[in-house]
Parts: sequence; C-alpha cells; structure tokens
Amino acid sequence: MPSAILPKNMKLPLRRTNFCLTLLVAALSPSLTSIAAAEATKPAYLDATQPLETRVEDLLSRLTLEEKISLLHADSKFTTAAIPRLGIPRRWLDDGPHGVREDIGPDTWASAGRTDDFATAMPSGICLGATWNPALGFAEGQAIGQEARWRGKDIMLGPGINILRTPLCGRNFEYLGEDPWLSGVMCSGYIRGAQSQDISSCVKHFALNNQEYQRGTINVEVPERALREIYLPAFKAAVQSGGVWSVMGAYNQLRGQHCCHNDYLLNQILKTEWGFKGLVMSDWDGTHDTRQAALNGLDLEMGTEKPYNDFYLAQPYLSGLKSGAFPAAGLDEKVRRNLRVMIATHVLDANRKPGSFNTAAHENVARQVAEEGIVLLKNENHALPLEAATLKSIAVIGENAIRLHAHGGESSGIKAFYEITPLQGLINRAGRNVNLTFSEGYQKDGRADLAERAVAAAKAADAVIYLGGLNHDSGFDCEGADRKDMKLPYGQDELIQRIVATNPKTIVVLEGTMVEMDAWLDKVPALVQAWYPGMEGGNALARVLFGDVNPSGKLPATFPKKLADSPAHALGNYPGTDGTVTYAEGLLVGYRWFDTKHLEPLFPFGHGLSYTTFQYSNLRLVPGDGTKSVVTVQFEIQNTGTRTGAEVAQLYVHQQKPSLPRPEKELKGFQKVLLQPGEKQTVAIPLDPMAFAFFDDQQRCWVAEPDVFSIRVGTSSRELPLAADYQLPAKVLIKP
Ligand code: BGC
Repeated sequence: MPSAILPKNMKLPLRRTNFCLTLLVAALSPSLTSIAAAEATKPAYLDATQPLETRVEDLLSRLTLEEKISLLHADSKFTTAAIPRLGIPRRWLDDGPHGVREDIGPDTWASAGRTDDFATAMPSGICLGATWNPALGFAEGQAIGQEARWRGKDIMLGPGINILRTPLCGRNFEYLGEDPWLSGVMCSGYIRGAQSQDISSCVKHFALNNQEYQRGTINVEVPERALREIYLPAFKAAVQSGGVWSVMGAYNQLRGQHCCHNDYLLNQILKTEWGFKGLVMSDWDGTHDTRQAALNGLDLEMGTEKPYNDFYLAQPYLSGLKSGAFPAAGLDEKVRRNLRVMIATHVLDANRKPGSFNTAAHENVARQVAEEGIVLLKNENHALPLEAATLKSIAVIGENAIRLHAHGGESSGIKAFYEITPLQGLINRAGRNVNLTFSEGYQKDGRADLAERAVAAAKAADAVIYLGGLNHDSGFDCEGADRKDMKLPYGQDELIQRIVATNPKTIVVLEGTMVEMDAWLDKVPALVQAWYPGMEGGNALARVLFGDVNPSGKLPATFPKKLADSPAHALGNYPGTDGTVTYAEGLLVGYRWFDTKHLEPLFPFGHGLSYTTFQYSNLRLVPGDGTKSVVTVQFEIQNTGTRTGAEVAQLYVHQQKPSLPRPEKELKGFQKVLLQPGEKQTVAIPLDPMAFAFFDDQQRCWVAEPDVFSIRVGTSSRELPLAADYQLPAKVLIKP
C-alpha cells in the first residue's frame, strides 16, 4: 500500500513490529533455542502457517467485548475501526464492480479530492455478461483485485448480479443479464480472479433488488420456485463455485422483512443451506432494526445515516448484549465471520500481495472485455466491417461519440486513468486517408439545428456511423431511479430516420441498455450494441467496426420489441402497488417468458452475429460418470467462413412432461470457442442432475424427474440447429 493512502492516525500493524523484534532478538541471541522460543511466542492468529480456523479462534479469544462490537460496523463511510493493540488494521471497503472507485469522505459522499485514486475503468457488467467468457471474467476480477490492493483496499463491493427482470431497472447496466446460469458462471470467474489477489469480493445485492424505484422500501413477493430457480442461483454459484468471502444484502424487503437482516435469506438459505462461511454486510443505509440485525444474519453494518456509535450493531447492540437481550454466541459468530474474511485474505500477513495499477495487462483486459462484449445485432449485405481502404469519408454522428461514461452511474462509476471515446477510437483507427467529420446530432434540450447539421454531414459522407443510445444521466442507466420507458431519448428515433433516409449506409451503434427500435431498425443495414465499453471502449469499438476484431458478443438479455411485451409489464407487475411488487410472472423471466408464450422478441437472448459463419453438426450424447455428470453432450462446430472468429455454443434443456410447469427451455451450458477459417472443433458439455432439475416447492428440494429431455444446441436461444432427446433414467432429489 503506498504510504500516501495510509489514514492519518493509522499505526503500522503491530505484527510488523513484532516480526522485526523477533528478528532482532534472534540476531542478538547467543543460542538457537532462544530463537525457537521467540517464534513460539508468536500468537497463533499471526502465524500464517496455522490453519485458518485456528487463527480465527485465537484472535477471537483475545478481543474485548467493545473490540468485538467495533468490528461489526463502520467508522467512516467505507472503513471499519483498527484494533492497534492486536495489529488489526483498519479495513477499507470500496466500490465496485467496474474498477476501484475514487475515494470519498471519510464522513460525506463528496470526493476526497485525491490525485492518486484513478483506476482502470472496465466495461459495465452487462458487457462482461455479453462476452460469455468466464476466463475474461477471471482476468477482469484479477486486474481489479490488483488495483484494489495497490490502493490499499480489503473488500471490493462487486460483482453486482441481480437478474434483469424489467428493462427499466436503472442498474441493469451493472449486472450480468437475465439468466441465472450465465450470471452464475460469469460472476464465479470474476470472484476467483479478484480474490486471487488477497482481497474479498462482495457479491451484491442479495437478493431481488431488481428495480431502483422505491428500492429502500419495496417489498417483493416472489413465488418460492422463482426465488430458487431465477433469483438465487447466481448467488449460490458465487458462494459455492466462486468462493466469495462477502455478500451484500439488498435494500428491498423480501416477504415483509428487509433483505439486510432477512432471516430466511441470510440464516436459513445463505449460511445454513449453502454453507457460506464469510460475512454479510448491509448495503449503505440498508439496516433498519437492532433486533433483526442482531439475530437475522447481518455481520457488518455499513452506511447507516447516524453517528457511527449509534449504528444498530454498535451501541444499541452492545446494550442488548449486556442486558442479555441478545446471546453472546451470536456476537461471536458475527465477529468470527469478519475475522475469517480478514485472515483468509491475508490482511494480517507480511507477504500479502501488493497489487499493481494501470498496467498494460489491465488496459488489455479492459479492451478485450469490450471487444468480446460488443454485440453485432444486425448486418445486412456485409455493411460491416468497414473497409478503410475504400472509404473516403465517414460522418460520425451522435453525442455518445464524445461522451465520457466511465465516471457515471453512481456507485459503479470510476475515475478512469483515461477514456477513449468512440470518436477518438475511430480517429485512431481510420487513419489519415479517411475524412472523418463529427456532428453531435442531438443534445438533452433537443436543438433542431444540430439535427440539420448532422443530416447535412450524413449527405456529404460515404458512410455514417451513428453513436447514440442512453447514458448515465439520472432516469436512464443510473443508480437510484428506473427509466420511465424503453424509448430512445432526445429525439433520436426521428434523427436516425432522417439520417438513414439521407445516407442508407448508416451504421447504428447504441451505448447503454436495451431500447425500442421499431421506428428505424428495418431501414438501417447494421446495428451494434456497445453497452458502456469502459476506458478502452473507443478503440475496441473501432476495431470491431473495421474488422480487426471479429465480434463474438451475445446478448445476455432478451431485447423485447416493446416494453409491454416483457413479462413484468405485460402482467402489470411493475413497479408494484402500495409498496409491494408481486413477481406474478414467476419463472417466466426474459427468454423463458418469450419462448413459453411464443412471443417474437426484437433480438433473442444469446443472439450475436459474426463476420464469419459457423456450422454445427454431429450432436451425440455420451454417458457421464453418473454423479458429476449424467450425460455429456458432444458436437462439432466448424468455422465455414473466411475470417477467424469465436462462437458461443449454447445448450438449452426442455423437459417434455414435467409434473410442475416449466419454462419452454433453460440455458444449462455454454462454451466459447475460437476457430480459424475452416477449423472444426469438438465441444463437450457435461450435464449433472441439476441441469435437469426444478425446485419443488412442496418437497422443498430440487427434483430431476425420470423423463425425456430435449437437448438443443446452437448459436442463440432462437437458433438451435442441433437437438437430441435424453432419457433421465431415475428420479434424483438434490438438497437445496
Ligand atoms: C449501492 C451499493 C454500493 C454502496 C456503496 C449503495 O447505494 O446500492 O451497490 O456498493 O452504495 O457505495
């Protein structure tokens, strides 16, 4: 940790002093016996060779009641108190999912005004989801973990993995899409990468924070099956596959109890059923009650709008412990979890990883995630890639060509080292031989002369690259509020129509999350979804548009034709009434709804084009080992075009006669493969019994029934050329 960011009053942890003293004693000592004696006096909790639980119990036994309490709540916006006499340093937490946020506070949300808190700004979470590449998730987590260590952080508040239930949720851009399996696989990679750097990730927001509207109070009523099959699996994967050390409770309520101290979610499911051993922290100001905080599974209270000593888990909890209202064992369990995370991430060890920042590797990861997450949605008559050699002029139009996004969106915003805008990326790539003009086209307040100038620029150019979509202004893709509708703002629908009428070679690139496009989609030859592509986004986008990179991103969420088609809106279950939102669509979220109801989406889940073509063939089912996999699905993919490209092969399962209603199909596996022109590869995806199971809310366990399952494989949820039937021989019950 650079000394500049040591908090003013923080002393070097005593462990270092002890260690030096030991060495000094050893150096002066006449005999080896006394060295051994000095080593032997090192307390177990400081001895990295001791088992984790031994260290935790040893340290726990040395803490006073007041010291224990001090570990359970904040002492500034993003820290908890040090205990210098035991060498416990202050713990530093920070947002968030897209990089290490700038420092604030200590006691306000205002920027700390530092000059050393820049960071690599990764693309937004939904872009990472669109890569369908867990190895990239690992690489991104690792880079963020390294920068977190460099900046002296201990717990990073990400990834965010709430399921995209409605297109309007203001934080959809931060999350990984609509599918529990995809979100679970992607977040596990990210968490393993981040935690490999001696920090803890903190997966959030547990659970059902699927809208920003009334987020602090809204009560969610969700059927048990939907809870188990849609909203919890990614969190379970974060715990059981990712090994995440921290979980953040959500602001909202589940069935009448706030999620930050919800007994069912935290005690029963997370800690008991899933065996989570780490700590549960509140979202900032998400704690509301001392008794519930004491008893219902909260281990660390952050962000409450009160003096730190008055936090629910501070003085009020202490008083309750002293009066016997709350059991001492409950206190020890909370402290134990905090200590476990601290010791497991090597906070007390001399050789903790030091981190690094803004390395070439970090920049590469940021660019690669963008390159693999950008989705080519439409490409008629080879409108893309652009040929720099034959194009003489390009009109770049649209405010998003020059807008910086990395700092926006609230808690996930990053003070980026730099941010390559799309315009800059295009200038970098197009070279001197292409005459590139820029015209803003639209602005917040809709000035008509901007549109006139843009249309004139479009007329004068060989091709147009239109850069529009959304941004992080409040009311669009931004924390704290939802969007009002799914429309393009600032008169963009009309503007795009005018531009394409003037110049048919108009490539539309949209940033942000999904919007309605019926006004112009059939008129434009090519459409690219670029999300918020991070600080290397402009370069990545230019490389995709000019064909240096062959696009391989796939939608992690269904794009509906219109808002009213998507389930929560079709059924009138958004944003809720009288403080409660009822998830009456149950399991039918995203493509599960569109497929089961035979509704045509605008672009289906898993869709994404390439500049090459792939052929799927030869599906076969190979018996598995019986436990981990019951069957392995094998098939071939061949690159039948002329460019190298990566394809995401997707596997969906459909049960033919389930005893309880199930969605038409569910994603149960995928693999991204890179193929040279002409190259053919065999893909093998093992399926375990869980791949066939649904949650039986009567038996309260997962059930895979002896039935015929159609296994479908292909390039998107709506284009599945391979299919085979699999007969599961016997019933399998799996505990939740
Ligand atoms: C957000 C969290 C974030 C926290 C700290 C809250 O408002 O919901 O995601 O980690 O603030 O900034």
